[in-house]
Amino acid sequence: MSESNPSSTHNLRSDGSRLWATIHETARFGGTPKGGINRLTLSPEDGRVRDWFREACEAAGLTVSVDALGTQYALRPGRDMSLPPVAFGSHLDTQPTGGKFDGVLGVLAGLEVMRTLADAGIETQAPLLLVNWTNEEGSRFAPAMMASAAYAGEFTTDEILAKRDGAGVTVAEALDAIGYRGGEAVGERTIGAFVELHIEQGPILEAEGKTIGVVEGGQGIAWFDGTVEGFESHAGTTPMPRRRDALLGLSEFALAAERIALAHGPSAVATIGEAGILAPSRNVVPGRIAFSLDMRDPRSGTLDAMEAELRQAAAEIGERRHLSLVLERIWRKEPVPFDPRIVSAVEEAAEGLGLPRRRIISGAGHDACNLAGRVPAAMIFVPCKDGVSHNESESATQADCAAGADVLLQTVLRLADTRLTAA
Ligand code: GLV
Ligand code: MN
Ligand code: MN
Repeated sequence: MSESNPSSTHNLRSDGSRLWATIHETARFGGTPKGGINRLTLSPEDGRVRDWFREACEAAGLTVSVDALGTQYALRPGRDMSLPPVAFGSHLDTQPTGGKFDGVLGVLAGLEVMRTLADAGIETQAPLLLVNWTNEEGSRFAPAMMASAAYAGEFTTDEILAKRDGAGVTVAEALDAIGYRGGEAVGERTIGAFVELHIEQGPILEAEGKTIGVVEGGQGIAWFDGTVEGFESHAGTTPMPRRRDALLGLSEFALAAERIALAHGPSAVATIGEAGILAPSRNVVPGRIAFSLDMRDPRSGTLDAMEAELRQAAAEIGERRHLSLVLERIWRKEPVPFDPRIVSAVEEAAEGLGLPRRRIISGAGHDACNLAGRVPAAMIFVPCKDGVSHNESESATQADCAAGADVLLQTVLRLADTRLTAA
């Protein structure tokens, strides 16, 4: 193997067509008729893509291990094994109506980096580690990004193992069902730096004609479980003024959430993504509703203000309509600044490749946001079509995916041969 000295590696490029083929090869695990992916975390489809990933990593000469929350780690040795590895990756789980790129790009571009280095016979100073984090999406089990949060010490492993999906299945049971409850203690493995490549999932890069987003941080997120309790009664005989209709209460609350987010704009957002009438019936006035609320902003103080206003709206609507409207905050992730040294490494890599770029804040949550609480971390964004994500039509170009993989490759090479000094 040759050494990764800068003169020999600056011209190294990933294989964009191999990466593209790999993205489409894995899209069959949970592939939907509309061309998207439905691969909920720890589902049988997730089990199959994990098996595929392990085999592909082993074929690339990597050693794969699994931690107690199912996160997969694929290690490539470096010249100095006393150095902590430079890690990169993302997630292979998707939303129920997910696309082919969210998360997948970061993992498979990481695999492409490993394959490119193997083909070129390059050995880095620090070891390299490719990671597939369990349950980034948070769709089946809340909160999102739970395995990387446990890695960073925000939850204990047991707290995460006990979380339940909508059918009452625990994370522990779901891991066992697909054979992915590994032996490695969560957080035991030291990581020197973490870099995550991802599609932007928003419209900015495409609108500005930029290929690379140099991500400086992620916005704050708060998740709530909500209930509206009214009174079930006959749809034909209960006069309108006497009704205690939970659905009408939720409808008003949803409009209040929109108003509050708009008032804190332009970055503030609020979404009721799940809502279900309990024991629904065509001829019964809805008596009970369970719903979720997702609220985000890059400023912590704005999250506080929005939450206070939402609670006030819930109380006011509840009182006026004789309903009980309860909001329970189940998760809050503070806004995260990324490490300036890793952000600069990404920027220099993009500059060295001559790619149009801009600094950007992530609107989505990412495992890198959790990693940042424990290790120097940053992200690379590439554009996606019309800024659409969490949709089966999610799309990105082969050229942009290849450019992102090249920036990842060059960033990793820089970091693997640099000793990070205090920021
Ligand atoms: C993860 O997909 C998120 O909710 O941002
Ligand atoms: Mn993602
Ligand atoms: Mn996502």
